[in-house]
Amino acid sequence: MRHEDMLTARSLVKSYGGVRALDGADIRLRGGEVHALVGENGAGKSTLVRILSGTLAADEGSVRLADRAREGGIAVVSQELSLFPDLTVRENLFPHRPPRRFGLLDRGAMDRAARPVLAELGLDVAPGALLGELPLADQQLTEVARALLRRPRVLVLDEPTSALPAAAVNRLEQVLRTLTGRGIAVLYVTHFLEEVMRFAHRVTVLRDGRVTLAGVRGEEIGVPDLVKAMLGAAPPPPVRRERAPDDGPPPVVLSEVCVPGRLTDVTFTVRAGEVVGVAGLQGAGHLDALAVVCGRTAISAGRVGVGDRGLPRSLRDAIRAGVAFVPSDRKRFGLMTDRTVWENTTAVSWLALGRGGVIPSRAELVRRTADLTGRLRLRGGPHDVVAQLSGGNQQKVVFAKWLATDPRIVVLDDPTRGVDVGVRAEMHAIVGELAAGGAAVLVASTDLAELTEVCDRVLVFVRGRITAEVSGGRLTEHGLAAAMQSGADARSDGSGGPGTPEIAGDPGS
Ligand SMILES: Nc1ncnc2c1ncn2[C@@H]1O[C@H](COP(=O)(O)OP(=O)(O)OP(=O)(O)O)[C@@H](O)[C@H]1O
Ligand SMILES: [Mg+2]
Repeated sequence: MRHEDMLTARSLVKSYGGVRALDGADIRLRGGEVHALVGENGAGKSTLVRILSGTLAADEGSVRLADRAREGGIAVVSQELSLFPDLTVRENLFPHRPPRRFGLLDRGAMDRAARPVLAELGLDVAPGALLGELPLADQQLTEVARALLRRPRVLVLDEPTSALPAAAVNRLEQVLRTLTGRGIAVLYVTHFLEEVMRFAHRVTVLRDGRVTLAGVRGEEIGVPDLVKAMLGAAPPPPVRRERAPDDGPPPVVLSEVCVPGRLTDVTFTVRAGEVVGVAGLQGAGHLDALAVVCGRTAISAGRVGVGDRGLPRSLRDAIRAGVAFVPSDRKRFGLMTDRTVWENTTAVSWLALGRGGVIPSRAELVRRTADLTGRLRLRGGPHDVVAQLSGGNQQKVVFAKWLATDPRIVVLDDPTRGVDVGVRAEMHAIVGELAAGGAAVLVASTDLAELTEVCDRVLVFVRGRITAEVSGGRLTEHGLAAAMQSGADARSDGSGGPGTPEIAGDPGS
């Protein structure tokens, strides 16, 4: 009786003002199965999740939980991290009923309960660490751990892997297998269709608030069927740029740069017209190299040139030197979520003022942003408050507002995090056009396939040093993963001699 129905939702309708986010959607979750939910940005996935978990009321329709499911209830890992950065990992894990002893919080009991769950997720963090100081991937896994500690019968994960490196995704896959083995029903929202094919027993596709594929068994479909059900049309073919990089002075130069505990003797350049990737395992230093270019990290040795200036002292300084920075963490660096789309767009022009070269006027910037958001099929108008856009649509705003400034140097950190396959292809095309127009592009991504698709070459970092440059026929996901891994194991087998640099566990923050 493992595959009995745990949750049945029928004919759900939900409107926000004039927007119909759900338009008669059904879904049925069975115990012992991973059920994937996919669809374009704004298709209604998170809205469905909120209704299933009871945080949002539907206008019409019903949600029924099986008796067996009631006790443990539904636990949700939401798309936007909902943890408290100023609290410790431990405090975040037990938000509701922390174990007590003699009326006091029982830290020992908390840690004993948490340890096996953290270990299962491969999350190696001190329970007393402040959550906000952990890398984003660890924060996301902490959120998963918190959900698991509730011992739910139904577990809902809304894009849990968008910030996770491949190793953590594999671990999550193992955990999901264990959970479904115990008869738990899992609803898994993601934009990674490969993951869907790997993890899911069934798939439901939402399009404009309606179900276009209902609980189809994974082995009965392929990625092209999913894409068609999501978009209603074939995705645009990948774009390949043909152009020679400029041989003038490179806009980005790092020469023997050191950042204590993070980077050792890092030397590279990015020429105008080039798209250069950086890759590495967590804490390998690749993100620190981006942080140097963006003026977010001080260096202890070496030489840096950004635009026609030296080392930027702040992000503002970097922007003046011609840098546009598209961050992965749109909440912290990317957007003022309580403001409208246009307020966010025009705020950039203030920062970009004083930059060398021509600064687009505010009206021009708004026009270009509108152009880009149109290409990216932004759901929502200029006067919509950003907080009301779906997660992927917020990311489109971050991308568009920065790239509309006509930057000379583009720094992208997980630029397509959380956007659907069609928009991902369009963003890649835009990056290609920027490079063709003479921009120097530097990109990091947790999605190795993305690096192979957009980059001319990729610099691989291991323990704070560049250990390989991968390009041409070797630029494959497999080739990158192998290069990232090689030499990295030395740390875990304890053989690190005097030459082992002490690389901290978290990337630049
Ligand atoms: N609080 C809100 N106020 C107004 N509109 C909203 C609100 N929340 C969501 N919407 C709208 O409802 C629609 C569906 O949003 P939802 O967040 O469910 O999409 P999604 O499928 O999760 O997308 P993504 O893949 O980008 O996360 C979108 O058009 C969105 O703008
Ligand atoms: Mg969503």
